[in-house]
Amino acid sequence: MVDKITAPGVIARKGGDKIKMVTAYDTPSARIADRAGADIILVGDSMGNVVLGRADTLSVTVDDMIHHTAAVAAASPRAMVLGDMPWLSYHASTEETVTNAGRLVRAGGAEAVKVEGGRKRIRMIRAILDAEIPVMGHLGLTPQSVHAMGGYRVQGRDTAMAHELISDAVALADTGVFAMVLEGVPDTVAALITREVAVPTIGIGAGPSCDGQVLVFHDVLGLHDGHLPKFVRQYARLADTAVEALSQFFGDIDSGAFPAEAETYHMSEEAARMLLELEQAGDGWRRIRGDHLLADDAMDR
Ligand code: KIV
Repeated sequence: MVDKITAPGVIARKGGDKIKMVTAYDTPSARIADRAGADIILVGDSMGNVVLGRADTLSVTVDDMIHHTAAVAAASPRAMVLGDMPWLSYHASTEETVTNAGRLVRAGGAEAVKVEGGRKRIRMIRAILDAEIPVMGHLGLTPQSVHAMGGYRVQGRDTAMAHELISDAVALADTGVFAMVLEGVPDTVAALITREVAVPTIGIGAGPSCDGQVLVFHDVLGLHDGHLPKFVRQYARLADTAVEALSQFFGDIDSGAFPAEAETYHMSEEAARMLLELEQAGDGWRRIRGDHLLADDAMDR
């Protein structure tokens, strides 16, 4: 029996074994991630781009997140199931924030939630923590701020911005997040934050010094053809493999090679013989269909 990954377990990994995190949005991908040894499965709002085909994450709702988080939780992974709080689900009031985080846990089966932003979001993060829900922070290139940032840009490249990021990270850690994602920040900034805070940092486009790394499932496995950011390493080209497999399937349908004997159900020889005899007798179908046919006839009349 392998131990379930929990928030305290993640904190204990600070500076130790690297934390492995990957996104997943449904049961089969969660099972694959878990079998491969993920520590944390993030049901990211990247689902909006990756599986719903949208241009950004802003249209993703709490209901969308619950739907997909529940599918991931259904895999009962050893990994922690981390639900992303979508845009506007933790901005208006602490009441709404706690309600939304609670729905991700209660209806979605999330074991922790992730919130984008730094000091601006401390009040909301504190409220979620007060409801006993572990929170992961997310700093740097925060996709929900795409319009405010003027696009998906690396953050913290100049000294002043880097300093802001470090202050945000310290504030998040002081508030009680159990870990934080650092996305799209220079390696030096990520290294400094990782040194400064007592909780693990999990990098995505943040260099090698973080306590863990995360990538999007479909990016790692080459499940789509879209633009890939510089920080992605593709370990497979499953979209090509899938196209190749489906083309073979369709070719076999065309040629009649599918289905073969082994893929076909049979009835007993005796039943098949009787069936053929009835068909040859002409009105055999009337006897077989019996009441059903009579009922149809009655309706016709
Ligand atoms: O939504 C997401 O997939 C994320 C990761 C990129 C960290 O937030």
